[in-house]
Amino acid sequence: MLRRVIAWLSRRFWVAAFVVALSLHFYPRIHDLVLGVEVTPPMRGYAVALRSGCFTCHGPNGTGGVKNYGGEDDEIPGFAGGTPMMWAKSEFELQEYILDGAPARKRGDPRYKEAQRKQLIAMPAYRGHLSPQEVDDLVAFVRATSGLIVPADEVAAQGQELAYKFGCFQCHGPMGARGSSNPGSLKGYIPGWWSNDFHDLVRDDGELRGWILDGQIERLRDNPIARHFIEAQRVYMPAYRDFINDKQLEALMGYVRWVNNGEWQGKPLALGH
Ligand code: HEC
Ligand code: HEC
Repeated sequence: MLRRVIAWLSRRFWVAAFVVALSLHFYPRIHDLVLGVEVTPPMRGYAVALRSGCFTCHGPNGTGGVKNYGGEDDEIPGFAGGTPMMWAKSEFELQEYILDGAPARKRGDPRYKEAQRKQLIAMPAYRGHLSPQEVDDLVAFVRATSGLIVPADEVAAQGQELAYKFGCFQCHGPMGARGSSNPGSLKGYIPGWWSNDFHDLVRDDGELRGWILDGQIERLRDNPIARHFIEAQRVYMPAYRDFINDKQLEALMGYVRWVNNGEWQGKPLALGH
């Protein structure tokens, strides 16, 4: 009798354990699906860069500044401020940097080999350590961080410079490709400007203006559930009202709209000048 009870219990236990393990395994995906969590290639690339050690050499978020004795400017180049333009002639060469440590064009050049011997730290070859998808995502991250994708429209281009100046990308990710974690917020992260999150949060220019000037909008403030998350979130959208003038507001709006329009996405980076 006892043995039968134990057998019954242990069967139940394994079934229960299996169900718990399964739901724990799928929980993040179900959670993301239900909430409509937005994923962009640069954000995936950021995560790959973080776990691949790229930032240990290329500086926090790829902003450079790490010493490299004997290297160009005695520093490891970053990905920001137009830097990739001085190193690669095409996006394919960016991939070659990641996969082989440098483009074939350079690796075959004796002067390059000599210069490499004289520098303390070399770019590692990641071939065999990254999937093709991970390499694409890394390139998408480098693209968005590079500062080399600039609107043709003058007002929107000024908006981009202001976005750097006011630190918008610190929170919203490179080119607004989605920001970092934000504990207490509805989706758990700072929304980006690329797709659904933006369309949920910004219905028209009035709301876009509201976000930038006041850090919040009436439609959400009046909704008790949204209000709960607005108050619970730890990182909030700052109100720029007292810090920008009308012209700057228009420029920032023009830039955010241009990013959201996404026309630039398929265009290759202007490299190799
Ligand atoms: C051990 C240090 C180190 C690590 C780790 C590293 N790099 Fe580099 N990387 C370098 C150095 C040094 C250069 C300059 C290469 C040269 O001298 O030709 C470089 C150059 C580059 C370049 C071209 C220059 C530029 O800044 O645009 C790219 C792109 C690049 N690395 C991407 C990456 C990515 C992506 C990762 C992670 C997957 C990574 N690197 C990891 C050291 C590193
Ligand atoms: C300190 C971090 C931080 C900075 C800096 C910041 N934002 Fe935000 N922003 C947020 C957060 C958090 C939200 C979401 C707020 C909410 O849901 O209540 C947000 C929301 C927004 C939204 C609403 C829609 C969306 O998808 O993001 C826009 C548009 C926006 N910010 C634009 C900007 C601009 C333009 C700048 C620079 C002038 C900027 N933000 C600077 C944190 C920041």
